[in-house]
Amino acid sequence: MAKIDNIEACVFDAYGTLFDVSAAAAQCQEELGDKWAPLSQIWRDKQLQYTWLRSLMDEYVPFWQVTQDGLDYAMATLGIDNPELRQKLLDIYFKLDAYTEVPDMLQTLTNAGLKTGTLSNGSPEMLQAAVDNAGIHLDAVISVDKVGIFKPDGRIYQLVCDDMGVAKENVAFMSSNAWDAWAAANFGFQVVWVNRFNQPPERLPGQPREIIPDLTGLPAILGIG
Ligand code: LAC
Repeated sequence: MAKIDNIEACVFDAYGTLFDVSAAAAQCQEELGDKWAPLSQIWRDKQLQYTWLRSLMDEYVPFWQVTQDGLDYAMATLGIDNPELRQKLLDIYFKLDAYTEVPDMLQTLTNAGLKTGTLSNGSPEMLQAAVDNAGIHLDAVISVDKVGIFKPDGRIYQLVCDDMGVAKENVAFMSSNAWDAWAAANFGFQVVWVNRFNQPPERLPGQPREIIPDLTGLPAILGIG
């Protein structure tokens, strides 16, 4: 039996949810040695902080710029001065790998007649490169770039309803970024928190409906398969 019903569209956060944000640093372990894990963590943390800070400052720049700024901060923190390695990390990040369960899971949703999409901070060209690299099909690839502010501004979640023609209560939204999951629930989506990183719940307004460790179990929650 479905734990969440009346769903017409399944919309996923991109980075950390469909695409593996640690893949770039992990693929440069030879060059980075034991700095690869801290680099990955600082890069991601700083990238997200810059999205929130720039939104508050009304100083939007595309996510690709924010991603480079976050990497430069992380490399400076760890004392790494290596332009070639910087470029290699960015090249990998531009077309990150999808998590292994993603292609089959999306196919199951599509076969069941559900619309699929991603809603992401990512710049349109980054998102398209990652989607193409993963060989997956999504009915909608929606970037915040259209509005010029980052998640969790409410206008961003509204883009899903406007672009996909669905009411918010008929949207299942999946994110591994807990703050994004809580904000999307607060907006009015039916949210499944993909707790890939085994984190405690947020103390924020909003409440995810379900929690899963990765996306394998999503179809079952929707009563499919
Ligand atoms: C995104 C970030 C939050 O894809 O991961 O929007």
